Amino acid sequence: MSILSNHGTIERNSILLVVLILIVVSIGGIVELAPLFYLESTIETVRGMRPYTPLELAGRNIYIREGCYNCHSQMIRPFRDENERYGHYSLAAESMYDRPFQWGSKRTGPDLARVGGRYSDEWHVAHMVNPRSVVPESIMPGYPFLANTPLGYRDIADHLQANATLGVPYDSAMIENAAADLRAQANPDADGAEDMQARYPKAQARAFDGNPSDVTELDALVAYLQMLGTLVDFDVYEPTAGDNER
Ligand code: HEC
Repeated sequence: MSILSNHGTIERNSILLVVLILIVVSIGGIVELAPLFYLESTIETVRGMRPYTPLELAGRNIYIREGCYNCHSQMIRPFRDENERYGHYSLAAESMYDRPFQWGSKRTGPDLARVGGRYSDEWHVAHMVNPRSVVPESIMPGYPFLANTPLGYRDIADHLQANATLGVPYDSAMIENAAADLRAQANPDADGAEDMQARYPKAQARAFDGNPSDVTELDALVAYLQMLGTLVDFDVYEPTAGDNER
């Protein structure tokens, strides 16, 4: 009884009530969050994850610049309806080289975490220029200027370097060859595509915007979209995290 009658004191004293609420809520928060910092399974090691190629990174920068994250998430939640629509739920490891992550918080359009390989390059080019040309009911804005804007990549090595400073494993060869790797990925006939692919396994090299003669912003964006969700090999992925090598 005395606990209940003392409760009246708390309810009449709003400052005390707020302080006690904060204490209780922070205990709950610590119990939820603290284990994530030392559990090995928080970010499971999975095979296939690699840092983004310079061209994909440039595409990612355009994705952020244009605010695509305002309408698109990149996180498939572990629910049945999402897995049936989008594929395997997103793993923490799949965004470990995302600085900042692109999980998003709004889905005006579909989740893009596994859009890579779902459509052809031609589809993406047509869709980015005018979404209504391929999806008549689409409300997505068009980005036709990307196709005629040459990609500015003089500072691409600095972008790799900045990511490396934050812990993304770009080595010195990757940083030194950033601009050459970028050109090699966007032009199927360029020398150096093999070197680029040796540095970035599974990187796709081709004229993403259909025009091999120059590197446009659309090349970079489509290269990025076509890579999304394709790096982890789910044939060998086992959800028993922690012990599988990368
Ligand atoms: C105003 C909201 C909005 C913005 C901003 C937006 N989109 Fe979309 N997007 C949509 C909607 C709605 C759809 C579904 C209809 C369609 O396919 O066009 C869509 C579809 C897509 C698809 C096809 C996905 C699928 O699985 O079918 C891709 C790829 C895409 N958007 C990429 C982008 C990129 C890249 C940007 C930024 C340059 C962007 N979107 C900006 C609303 C948006």
